Amino acid sequence: MTTASQTALALDFPILEQEGLVYLDSAATSQKPRVVLDALEDFLAHHNANVHRGVYPLAIDADTRFNAGREQIAAFVGAQPAETIITKNATEAINLVSYSWGLGNVGAGDAIVLTEAEHHSNIVPWQQLCSQVGAELRWLEVDHEGMISLDQLDEFLADGRVKMVAVTHCSNVLGTINPVEEIVVRARAAGAASLIDGSQAVPQMPVDVDAIGADFYVWTGHKVYGPTGIGLLHGRREMLEAMPPFLTGGDMIKTVSFDQTTFNELPFKFEAGTPPIAETVGLGAAVGFLASLGIERVRAH
Ligand SMILES: Cc1ncc(COP(=O)(O)O)c(C=O)c1O
Repeated sequence: MTTASQTALALDFPILEQEGLVYLDSAATSQKPRVVLDALEDFLAHHNANVHRGVYPLAIDADTRFNAGREQIAAFVGAQPAETIITKNATEAINLVSYSWGLGNVGAGDAIVLTEAEHHSNIVPWQQLCSQVGAELRWLEVDHEGMISLDQLDEFLADGRVKMVAVTHCSNVLGTINPVEEIVVRARAAGAASLIDGSQAVPQMPVDVDAIGADFYVWTGHKVYGPTGIGLLHGRREMLEAMPPFLTGGDMIKTVSFDQTTFNELPFKFEAGTPPIAETVGLGAAVGFLASLGIERVRAH
């Protein structure tokens, strides 16, 4: 049965005006409400300039809107803007960690723990890392109710060889929700880092990145009513500061000479090249839309 509030909500999504269209694939990508479409159009029509390089009024305007977008996005999940790195999608965010953190911290004989219910984007980067450095993957089994066992996690962690526990917050395969706070605590106690894939959690439930406490938390903009082309990596400052850049080039530098380069501060050190500027503004509008529905996810800072 369709309720009046569901009908009213559907009016926010222009695509749903199409006769006979019933959209049931939001876990793959969500449709976009009018406020997000308007924010994208308004930015591109009236405020568009590159960021971090101009001092003329339009460039300052674009900078201000881009920075505000990052702040809205970070606040939505209880994260700090400086520890909120804008990527192309969740997949790139995980690759950033597997390359930048992984190559420096995982070696021959080490292990990485995943669950059997991961999206490919939280499997393949770790497989690649393991084959490159001679590490192994350990798979947390999923039982008939879709749950993993914390006892098995403890068994995996017991020999001290695990360097990373990378698990989904909410499974795209089963919809089950993992006890991520507990997983992070157990991983850290065993000397392992943690990465939580929040791509299906952030659209569905309140997420407080700071309270979860993982070393890395990733998600993707297009599943929370935002545009494609933007993903997020929240990292703990000390981890991010210790990591080398992933991609290099413009914008991620502080100084460049013919001989050497010094890197920019966080988060820009990990944002090489022109970032998804309009998409950041659009995702800011998307999280504002979610907040306006009364889904209170934002932890007060
Ligand atoms: C749990 C999960 N992780 C990661 C991803 C990858 O997201 P993206 O394709 O935006 O990188 C998806 C997309 O379906 C997902 O469901």
